[in-house]
Order: sequence, then C-alpha cells, then structure tokens
Amino acid sequence: MRVTLGQLKAFEAVARLGSFSRAAEELHVTQPAVSKKVRLLQEEVGLPLLEHIGKRFYLTEAGSELLATCGDWLDTWSRFEQTIADLKGLKQGRLRIAVVTTSKYFMPRVLGPFCERYPGIDIAMEVANRDRLLERLARNADDLYVMGVPPEGWEIESEPLMANPLVVLAPAAHPWAGRRRIPFTDLATAVFVMREQGSGTRITIEREFSERRVPLRVKLELGSNEAVKQAVAGGLGLAILSRSCLSLDTGAPELVELDVEGFPILRSWYVVRPKGKQLSVVARAFLEFLHEHVRLLAKC
Ligand code: PGA
Repeated sequence: MRVTLGQLKAFEAVARLGSFSRAAEELHVTQPAVSKKVRLLQEEVGLPLLEHIGKRFYLTEAGSELLATCGDWLDTWSRFEQTIADLKGLKQGRLRIAVVTTSKYFMPRVLGPFCERYPGIDIAMEVANRDRLLERLARNADDLYVMGVPPEGWEIESEPLMANPLVVLAPAAHPWAGRRRIPFTDLATAVFVMREQGSGTRITIEREFSERRVPLRVKLELGSNEAVKQAVAGGLGLAILSRSCLSLDTGAPELVELDVEGFPILRSWYVVRPKGKQLSVVARAFLEFLHEHVRLLAKC
C-alpha cells in the first residue's frame, strides 16, 4: 500500500475529533484537503473506513483497525520527531572522536566546557598513535580525528587547529642546557629516546633529520610520551617531542628545552575527517567549539 504520513494524520484527526472541519482546523489545512487525503487512503486500503449515516459518520471495522494501528504509529513518529528536534537543538547525542596520543595533553581540557554547554551529549574519545588513528579513519569509525601529520594522498579534509611545535628535550643537568644556538649538526653526536614506529612525532623527526642529512641515533624506543620524558630525565638520551607534552609539568623542572638551530619545528594540529563525510549535528557543533576555544587549548 502506498500510504502517506499526511493521509494517516488526516484520518486519525477525523476519527478522533469526529469531524472533517475540526480535523482541518487542527492540521491547519482546508477541509477539502482533509477529505481528499481520507478518500485516497480509503482507496489505497481498498475498504470503506467511514460510514455516513444521516449527518454523522462512524468508523467501519477496517477504520477502527486502522485507527488503532496508526495511533501507535503516529505516537512512535512523534517521539522520533522529538528526538530529531532534540538532536538539532543539541539536547542529546553522541560524539566519537579519536585523537593522537600527544594531543591527550590538551584535548580532554576542552571536553569540560563542551559538556557544560551541551550536558546531554555523551562523548567517546579514543587515544592512540597516528598509525592506529589512520586505521580508524580508513574505516570511518569516528566523527573527527585530531592529529599532527594528516596522511598524504588520502581522500580527507583537514583543518589546521593550532600550533604544534616540536622541541628538543634534555635532562636539566645536561651540558648543552643553557647553551645558545646549538648547530643542528651537533645532534648527530647525541643519542635519542624515540617514540615508536607509527607515531606522528617520529615521522616528523625522521623526515627532518633525513632532509638535513644528519644521522639520527636512536638508543631507546618507547611507546608513550610520558615514558620518553622519564627516560630523558633518567639520563638515557635526548628526545624530540611536541611542546604540548610539557604543558602539565610546570612544577617538574627535570627537563629543559634546548636551543637548537631549526627548532622548534613548527607544525600544526589538524582536525581531520574523510572527504565528503556528512558530519552529525553534534560533530559540527564540536568542530565549531574547538575553533572557538583554540585559545583555551593553546594555554593548556
Ligand atoms: P603521535 O602523533 O602521538 O602519534 O606521535 C603526534 C603528531 O602527529 O604530532
């Protein structure tokens, strides 16, 4: 049967109110429009729905059945309409974001004010390294991705969010601490504690050393920025990390940033999504919110 929502609404109103004119008034349409809808519905059902006796009309058996059915159905539909209205008004919804490990130092900070503005929205934030993020991006697992090195040659859209400088770190007692303008080539004599393969930080460092034709000596490979920092503080080597990783360490001066020529390596954080992805209302609101709160993020 090719029955429309408008026909069902017209029939339900006529049956409930017992009058075509009152139904027309309630639905804000003309009476002939209501009559036409009910007539078309009746033709589609193939049995009379209403019986006229004198000036009154009564529901036939088929009409009663239809009224019971469409009562439930219209109830469900109106709940759906309410849900959509809530989504549009951002009263509820779900946000799935995936962020690279290094951005965990500032991304959770913006979630607080976002949740305060939109208390009905639930958030799932996956924190993983760049390789794992790309794997999620390839299967469209999340609404948005935050990373430092968007993949080249992929069908994606990426928007720069804010600066993401990479700096050279050493233990506070290192002989280079306090030295001015250390030549980049001196780094060839240092050993490094490095993030794992698949990390965006590591890709950038390897690229930089290879473009400058300076050998990079990796003494220790570790899978987290925190572990890298501890190893550097413990004297195992130098490290190159995003300055974001230091933001919470103001009270722990075990590490110093070295003044090396070519540093900080200036990069950006990017918000990435598959090209043409239809962002949900919630994801769009979050993206706008991120751009609005960039200053707050930069202070983290
Ligand atoms: P990472 O990513 O945490 O995988 O190193 C950081 C970045 O892409 O800058």
